[in-house]
Amino acid sequence: MKKATVGFAFCGSYCTFSKVLKQFELLSELGYDLIPIMSENAYSTDTRFGKAKDFADKIEGISGKKIISTISGAEPIGPKKMCDILVVAPCTGNTLAKLSNGITDTSVTMAVKSHLRIQRPVLLAPATNDALGSSAQNIGRLFNVKNIYFVPMAQDDCVNKPNSLVADFNLLTEALEEALNRRQIQPLFKVC
Ligand SMILES: Cc1cc2nc3c(=O)[nH]c(=O)nc-3n(C[C@H](O)[C@H](O)[C@H](O)COP(=O)(O)O)c2cc1C
Repeated sequence: MKKATVGFAFCGSYCTFSKVLKQFELLSELGYDLIPIMSENAYSTDTRFGKAKDFADKIEGISGKKIISTISGAEPIGPKKMCDILVVAPCTGNTLAKLSNGITDTSVTMAVKSHLRIQRPVLLAPATNDALGSSAQNIGRLFNVKNIYFVPMAQDDCVNKPNSLVADFNLLTEALEEALNRRQIQPLFKVC
């Protein structure tokens, strides 16, 4: 049976890129057709975790497709029914805030808006140091939005970063398969 087409959007949580790339590669090995998307920041920012171009080259190599990294590039995702599901991994606090408040000023927020327009599932995998601080209200609001699902999350360092939550990227494929069936994988919160 043909596997689903997965839009896969990377935001600027650079420290999680290598873990997410492993899951991206796994989805490709499992036979999912991957449409790669990067936020403008993720696509263009070199950090101590690596050069943007190196990540982009890997992503294009795995998916065999050019990365969508502009609002105009992401706009057809819904109207052309390009994806069965859209994954945002890693999803930054910045993108969570925009999604929660209806702001569409990046390739990723445009991709989500466009895809939600045709009522297909979106799977978010947050990674943000303020998840239990200023992002908490945004995450909470998104729990209550139709067609939005989450990869299970855990506090990654509750002593030194008590407001931080990171998705368990190892559960991404399982969460995706559930979300394709319109179910939220449980438990949503894990103990680290
Ligand atoms: C080295 C580095 C690491 C970062 N890690 C994170 C992170 O893990 N989570 C997060 O929410 N923001 C993180 N940021 C901040 C985001 O990159 C920033 O908010 C950016 O505006 C996100 O844009 P985007 O959501 O469009 O990708 C990091 C920034 C830098 C420079």
